[in-house]
Amino acid sequence: MFAACSRSAIERGEGLRLDGPQTQGVPIVVFRTDDDEFFAVDDTCTHQDASLADGWLEGCQIECPLHASRFDLRTGAVDALPAKAPIRTHAVSVIGDDVFVTLSSEAPNLPNGSALSGLSGLSTPSALLVSAMQPQGDPA
Ligand code: FES
Repeated sequence: MFAACSRSAIERGEGLRLDGPQTQGVPIVVFRTDDDEFFAVDDTCTHQDASLADGWLEGCQIECPLHASRFDLRTGAVDALPAKAPIRTHAVSVIGDDVFVTLSSEAPNLPNGSALSGLSGLSTPSALLVSAMQPQGDPA
């Protein structure tokens, strides 16, 4: 679990994209609904390489800005095509004014061709580090 942000850092009906070591190299987005609920999901749409943080939040659904797939933030399920695979969800705890996220241990459903798609089978920081250190071919 890590401290993602303060409650006040996200307006109702908005999301905050987080990326870096805390998210294990896979960007996530924390949404705050109009009903003041917080949800965290992977930021990359499972259809193609689009940021759900740039999408439209309505109730507990996020609509992708590129082709309008909709995902249920509570379950990650696809509520509207063309995306077929669910987005990964992460547990959120709000304690006082702080929002904490516990990353899912499941592998992310990243789209083919995404700059992040090579990370799909990795789920731990050490696995990511080992992957980054692998030689990329014979220089000769
Ligand atoms: S990229 Fe999200 S629906 Fe196509």
